[in-house]
Formats: sequence, C-alpha cells, structure tokens
Amino acid sequence: MSTPIPGQSQRVLSGMRPTGQLHLGHYHGVLKNWLTLQHEYECFFFVADWHALTTHYESPEVIQENVWDMVIDWLASGVDPESATIFIQSRVKEHAELHVLLSMITPLGWLERVPTYKDQQEALRDKDLATYGFLGYPLLQSADILVYRAGLVPVGEDQVAHVELTRELARRFNHIYGREPGYEEKAEDAVKKMGKKGAKLYRELRTAYVEQGDHEALDKARVLLEKQQNISLGDRERLYGYLEGGGKIILPEPQSMLTPSSRMPGLDGQKMSKSYNNTIALRDDPADIEKKMRTMPTDPARVRRDDAGDPQKCPVWPFHEVYSDDKTRAWVQEGCTTAGIGCIECKQPVIEAVLTELEPIQARAREYASDPLLARNIIDDGCKRAEEVAEETMTEVREAMGLDYK
Ligand code: TRP
Ligand code: SF4
Repeated sequence: MSTPIPGQSQRVLSGMRPTGQLHLGHYHGVLKNWLTLQHEYECFFFVADWHALTTHYESPEVIQENVWDMVIDWLASGVDPESATIFIQSRVKEHAELHVLLSMITPLGWLERVPTYKDQQEALRDKDLATYGFLGYPLLQSADILVYRAGLVPVGEDQVAHVELTRELARRFNHIYGREPGYEEKAEDAVKKMGKKGAKLYRELRTAYVEQGDHEALDKARVLLEKQQNISLGDRERLYGYLEGGGKIILPEPQSMLTPSSRMPGLDGQKMSKSYNNTIALRDDPADIEKKMRTMPTDPARVRRDDAGDPQKCPVWPFHEVYSDDKTRAWVQEGCTTAGIGCIECKQPVIEAVLTELEPIQARAREYASDPLLARNIIDDGCKRAEEVAEETMTEVREAMGLDYK
C-alpha cells in the first residue's frame, strides 16, 4: 500500500467516470475518502469523460449532462475547490498528448494482458468494444496519472492493475528517454550544486547504494534531495535518477492507494449500482428514500412478524453497520434474533440517519443546481490549474523525446 517513500511525490490523483447522479455507494466508497485526502495531500480530482467514451462512444448525449451532475455531487458532498483541484479531463489536452506519446513505447501485449480488457469485453457483450480506444484505455489512464507526476492514486481493487501498468510505462519511459547525452557529467554538475557538505554526503550515500545495495542509504539520499532548496527541477530529477545508477526520472512511478471496498451495498444486498436499480442517490427525494428503505427486502426467514431472523442475512444490516452506534446494533441483534422487533421498527433508525446525512448535501446541491455558473467557474479554475501542472510535465517530455524544436 502507501507507506511514504522519501522523495516520492505527495500528489494525489484520481478520476471518476461521469455516470450521472452519484449514490451512497459512491459516497461511502470513494467520496468520503477523497474528503480526507484533500486535507492531507495536494489533490487532483477529475471527471474522466474521455474514459466514458471508451465504452459509451455511441451515446455521447448522456455524457454531457452526467458531467455537471457529477461535479455538483462532488461539491455538495464536500469536495473543496480550495483544497483540491477539480477539473474535466477533455479540457486538459495534455492528457491526450501524453497518451499518444506513450503509445509509441507501449508494447501491445502489455495492454492485451490488462485483466480488465477481456473481462469488460465479456461483461459488456452488447457493445462492440473491439476498438482501439477501449484497448488503449488503461494507457489513457496512465497518461492521466503521469501527466501530473502523481505519487499516489486512490483506486479500487479493479484498478490496481492499471496503476501497475503505469509504473511499468514510467520505468520504460525513463529508461529510454532519461539518458540524455552526457547525463553523467550533468549529474556530476548537479551534485556540486548541493554545496560541499551536501555533495559529499550524496556521494557517500550513492556509493553505498550502488556498490553495496544499501537501501537505507538510498532512502537517506532521497531525504537529502528532498531537502535541497537551491536546485532546479531538472537537476533534482537527474539526481534522483543518478542515485539508482540510471538517468533522469522524468516520469516518477506512482503507487496505488487501495480504497477499501465500499461497505455500502445496495437496497437488495448486491453491490449498489444504477444498473441493478438498487440505489439511493444523493439527491433522491427524502420521501422516496424513505419509501425505498421501508420496502427494501429483509431476511427472507422473517415471513411473519413473530418469525425470528438473522441480521447477517439481511440487506438492512450493512446500513446499521455504517450508520448505527453499538447500542442500536445490539438492539437490532437482540430484537431480530428473538423476533422482539419488527422490520419496519428496525429500519427506522437507519432511515433517519440516511436522511440526516443527506440533508446538508442536498441543500448544497440545490444551491449549485440553481446557479450553474458556480460549478462552471470552479471547473474553469481547476482546468487552468491542472493545465499548468500538466504543461510543466509535457515540456520535459517533449524535450526528452526530441520534440522541442527551437
Ligand atoms: N478508470 C477509472 C474508472 O473507471 C477512472 C480513472 C480514469 C482513473 N483515469 C484515472 C482513476 C486515473 C484513477 C486515476 O473508475
Ligand atoms: Fe433485517 Fe432488522 Fe428485519 Fe432483522 S429485524 S430481518 S435485521 S430488518
């Protein structure tokens, strides 16, 4: 997982496909995690609209509206544009540029072997996914990550393979393009810029690592580099690369930060998903939420009020696990297994908890929905900020690939 590595970028990047209004599964599975991360790291969160087209290229009309609905739900849930940069992928063309440049060095087999490739093709059989865009989608994701030189990528289990591919591509890229002509001399010049003491220590630590494989020395050297304030970005990358005996690290390898799978299944106990029709959307009308929850299935053994049940077999129980305190949960365990309480009674505290949780979210969502400019301005700012960072990376990438004609 994500034990911090010295010298590793503390930038977090994550994207979400625009699937329209978000539901409690997204909120408890992804968004709450983002809310914590945005205060701990420099975060970039984006709407992966190009990713949506890789599978939904035949229905572009849905994407448009879904984008704004999703942005509003992020903001309403507390994603804070003061703390995190939020933007839309297609507005930052550098993602596409890096995608095409990386495609030059991506062996086809690497893409064909990504586990989601065949799985998804199977799962979405009604769609023709024998397209280049679909095969290249994990590469686009790699470009998303690398263009910000993000160090940490919060993803679910199903996406870990994509981050792994990203790491391999970064390594390959640095290997091919990081060895600029005369890189050893350039690295030696950079060492001198650390000052006498710094340079001496760097050399000692580097030798200890390169000659004896001393990993502690490598870590110490990275910390030393992290602390240097007077060296340029280019020199810093040279020095990181040189430490490990290689060239410049232009694209650092990211790490995945595994988001625990959501504890919030749908109303029927399956995964909460629009396609199963078992969701509570963040912006569902409170009366509808109440109705949906009152009619949600319970342990099938409780046919009559005086049949005992087992919370483990009941879709209501996971809601108690998320929303109820110990006392209420004990009351459910006892009441259910002895038929001491009825199911409607049992559901009442979670219905109230869900409504209470959603109330401020819905109030904020109403504000954003009534004034579309609010979200548009936030996204405009975010896109600009994202573009600046992406452009910095691309300047170096172009230079490394011989595309900086002057
Ligand atoms: N592929 C991700 C998904 O389908 C979304 C995504 C696109 C993403 N680019 C990313 C996630 C970069 C993390 C980092 O859920
Ligand atoms: Fe489910 Fe609660 Fe009914 Fe037991 S009492 S079956 S936990 S709703």
